[in-house]
Amino acid sequence: MAGVSVQAFRRQGRRYGAGLVCSEMVSCAGLSHGNERTLGYLRIGAGERPLAVQIFGSEPGVMAEAARMVEDAGADLVDVNFGCPVRKVTKTGAGATLLEDPERACRIVERVSTAVSVPVTVKMRRGLENGSRAALELGPRLVDAGAASLTLHPRSARQMYTGGADHSLTAELVERVDVPIVASGDITSRARAQAVLASTGAAAVMVGRAAQGNPWAVAEIAGGGAGEPTREEVVAELVLFIRETVAELGEKRATGFLKKFYGWYLGHGRFRRPFKQELVQLGTLEEGGERLFAAAPGARDVLARLQAEGAADDGVLLELPISIYGGG
Ligand SMILES: Cc1cc2nc3c(=O)[nH]c(=O)nc-3n(C[C@H](O)[C@H](O)[C@H](O)COP(=O)(O)O)c2cc1C
Repeated sequence: MAGVSVQAFRRQGRRYGAGLVCSEMVSCAGLSHGNERTLGYLRIGAGERPLAVQIFGSEPGVMAEAARMVEDAGADLVDVNFGCPVRKVTKTGAGATLLEDPERACRIVERVSTAVSVPVTVKMRRGLENGSRAALELGPRLVDAGAASLTLHPRSARQMYTGGADHSLTAELVERVDVPIVASGDITSRARAQAVLASTGAAAVMVGRAAQGNPWAVAEIAGGGAGEPTREEVVAELVLFIRETVAELGEKRATGFLKKFYGWYLGHGRFRRPFKQELVQLGTLEEGGERLFAAAPGARDVLARLQAEGAADDGVLLELPISIYGGG
């Protein structure tokens, strides 16, 4: 998830039972131009594998070149984005636009899957407009072009995140292809995951928003949940997340990036509402950490335990030639 799936998020997902985690979407044009921030998305740590790195773009050759860079960086899968509904992306002919440009979409998957030896997968929405069935027409062609698996988020691009994900389309897609289908959309609990798996025949579910600030939901969905976390556990995970994100993005970028996470962690009735506001307004992330520990002193011990278990393992498999990444 763009703006969410940093390394700390992916490692946390793995610790709480996710079988596979995915990067933010990475611009092929950015990789091709050697943009430093974009190259930073290819940093892969030891604790986050198996990892899919998702790329977006519209030029088959540039996508193939980007896929090679992703493979070289150590990704276990290259995922291709045919689902992003954001105008900035669709107006360039990338993301969900490709659902309505099947020839180009197939050429992209063909070139990308020929370029790398790791599996190539595709993430789709149902189509651009409400009621569209474009993904069902396109899916089998993408498999013929080399896609090893397809993920469907059955909302239209126009819908953005409104309404519900119509998983009857996921069931139809499962019938049309013989590769594993992953169901994405509104998976918020184990009961919901089981219902979607049973009604669609999908091979797996993908968890998006439910995992934001809530790895305990991932554990519950994966079947290893121990119920609602204590305040100490919440604070320990949030402080760890802050520290790891600062290490990855640098203090300045991390400060803006982290703002949305306070509400996600501290909500769910776990902490009183003004506490989040207070944290966002503090001068430094270090002060935020201190304020969090003051609210749940036992969290220091929980954090020490997490660190002893290697939660913060940030060993980089491939150090890219990035000079200022992390500064801003
Ligand atoms: C903040 C945000 C960023 C997202 N970024 C991406 C992305 O980069 N690539 C992608 O394929 N899907 C992206 N998605 C879509 C999710 O992967 C998922 O398909 C969608 O949110 C529905 O699943 P959910 O109900 O579990 O959140 C994003 C969703 C959100 C909310």
